[in-house]
Amino acid sequence: MSSAEFDSTSGHAGQVRFFNPGPVWVRPQVLQALGGPMMSHRSAAFSDLYGRILEKLPKVFRTKGQAHTLATSATGVWEAGLVSCATGPVLACCNGAFSDKWGEMSQRLGLDTTILKAEWGKPILADDVKKALAEKKYQIVTVVHNETSVGTISDLAAIAKVVHENSDALLFADVVTSLAATRVEADEWGIDLGVCGSQKALALPPGIAVFSVSEKALAAARQKKFRGIYLDLLDVEAFGKKNQNPTTPSLPLLYALDVQLDHILAEGMENRWARHHAMLSAVEEWAPKAGFRFLPGEGAHSPSVSSLFPPEGVGAEELNKAMKSAGWVPGAGYGKFKSSNIRIGHMGDVDLASVKNVLAAYEEQAARILAAAPAAAKA
Ligand SMILES: Cc1ncc(COP(=O)(O)O)c(C=O)c1O
Repeated sequence: MSSAEFDSTSGHAGQVRFFNPGPVWVRPQVLQALGGPMMSHRSAAFSDLYGRILEKLPKVFRTKGQAHTLATSATGVWEAGLVSCATGPVLACCNGAFSDKWGEMSQRLGLDTTILKAEWGKPILADDVKKALAEKKYQIVTVVHNETSVGTISDLAAIAKVVHENSDALLFADVVTSLAATRVEADEWGIDLGVCGSQKALALPPGIAVFSVSEKALAAARQKKFRGIYLDLLDVEAFGKKNQNPTTPSLPLLYALDVQLDHILAEGMENRWARHHAMLSAVEEWAPKAGFRFLPGEGAHSPSVSSLFPPEGVGAEELNKAMKSAGWVPGAGYGKFKSSNIRIGHMGDVDLASVKNVLAAYEEQAARILAAAPAAAKA
């Protein structure tokens, strides 16, 4: 099936008005699936459900190895990776709010952590990672593929290559807003832990995390004596073999995940990536004409969330307020760009026609604000 034929919105094409960069708009069919019957998570019926999920999930991560779920948000899997596997120094690549937080988590866990910093809005460069690896031996490298806070994507394939060519380190990659939005290749690139939440490009409600984990990462965990309980990746692996979770899972979200994985695989990974890149292209084409400017430089624009400065004379917060009054759910800037940027989440099951509609609405509201501004401000 071509991407043009597939209606990712399941009948709501052109009607989506929800552009928060996570939680994102969720199809009604997925919301319906949340209402499945309760059952014991040690029953055969549960194992049937979970077995289906464990069979489909690796296809999204592009691994012939393992992928699992945990009833945490994505942050829980960051922590699971570190508490289960970390026995040596960590290189944390930081270029925005989420990667900064992962680096801080590593420090707060008492790990020997080096922060490799890039300015917010700039990608992590493979060359900088290579230089850092030449200076010290690291056991783990953490990197956020797509920094949602600043709408900035880094070249994860290139980073993975330098990590594996220049060290034995495990590569822990946050693919929270890149998985199912752009190419992520867990096996080909050698991602040892691929961390994702549910409420982003997978287009599910929040409350569950999914992740891929390599044999190399599990081997590192086997060397570690104290791994806790809730976030122990070896327990997750052991129960996964029985098509179960170690603790009570979020049954409603697993029903929804089962349905949504069918939808994603029916669309096809390449088609889904192409649709996200088409939505980004629409923003890229529109922005300069409408007087909006991307925060990241060319080549680092995220396929799932655009972080933009509004036109001169239009305040980002004022613009978002106007968008809300007009019935849209816009995304606000994040962290240090909270008051100067808008973010448009174009991910998950949102379609190109809806994105074009929201862009027209931003342009209209910006023009209204400018028209209402006092003459002195316009001069
Ligand atoms: C790239 C990235 N990583 C991690 C997180 C944290 O996810 P959660 O709050 O679901 O734990 C987010 C949330 O927006 C994110 O965008």
